[in-house]
Amino acid sequence: MTQTALHPDLSEVLYSEETIQHRIAELGKELSADYAGKMPLLVCTLKGAIHFFSDLAKTLSIDCEYDFIVASSYGEGTETSGKVLIKKDLSTDIRDRYVIIVDDIIDSGVTLKFLTEEFAKRGAASVKTITLLNKPSRRTAAITADYAGFEIPNKFVVGYGLDYQQRYRNLPYIGILKPQVYENSL
Ligand code: IMP
Ligand code: MG
Repeated sequence: MTQTALHPDLSEVLYSEETIQHRIAELGKELSADYAGKMPLLVCTLKGAIHFFSDLAKTLSIDCEYDFIVASSYGEGTETSGKVLIKKDLSTDIRDRYVIIVDDIIDSGVTLKFLTEEFAKRGAASVKTITLLNKPSRRTAAITADYAGFEIPNKFVVGYGLDYQQRYRNLPYIGILKPQVYENSL
C-alpha cells in the first residue's frame, strides 16, 4: 500500500486504505454467499462509487456482470437538491435480474431510493443496495442500505471516489474535508 501524506484541505483521515480494503473483503464474502448461482448485475453509481465498485467486484468469488449509471441529487455544494436526474442510464435489460446497486455514500437517501424504485419498475427480480459509507443522521428518504461498510458522523468526507466540486476523488483514503474549504466557496 502507498504511504500518502494527508492532503492539506483535510482535517483527518477517517479510514485508511488498509481499513477500507479489509472491510471490502468482508462485504465481498457476504455478497458471494448471498448471490451464489444468481449472476448478479453490479451497478456502479458513477462517479463516486468507482473505486469501491472496482475493489469490491474483485473480492467476489462468484460470477457477476457490470453496468454503470450516472445519477445525481446534488448541485455543486454539499446539500442535496432533493431531485434525482439520470444523466447516463444502464445499457442492460434488467428484467428478471438480481441487481446490486453499488454506491459510495448514502446521505439523504434520495438517490438510492429513487434508483431502487426505478429498477424495480423495470422488472428486476430483486434490487439490493450496498454502500461503502452510511450517514444515517441525514436520512430524509425512507431507505436503509442492505449492506454497508462504515457508519460515519455528519461530516463532509472526501477521497476514495468521493468528491467536493469534483476534486479529491483520487485520494486513496477517506478523510474529513476542512469546513473552511467549502464555507469559503458557498
Ligand atoms: P443522497 O441522495 O443525499 O443520499 O446523496 C448521495 C450522494 O451525495 C452521494 O453519492 C455523494 O455523491 C453525495 N454526498 C453525500 N454526502 C457526501 C459527503 O460527505 N462527501 C461527498 N459526497 C457526498
Ligand atoms: Mg455521488
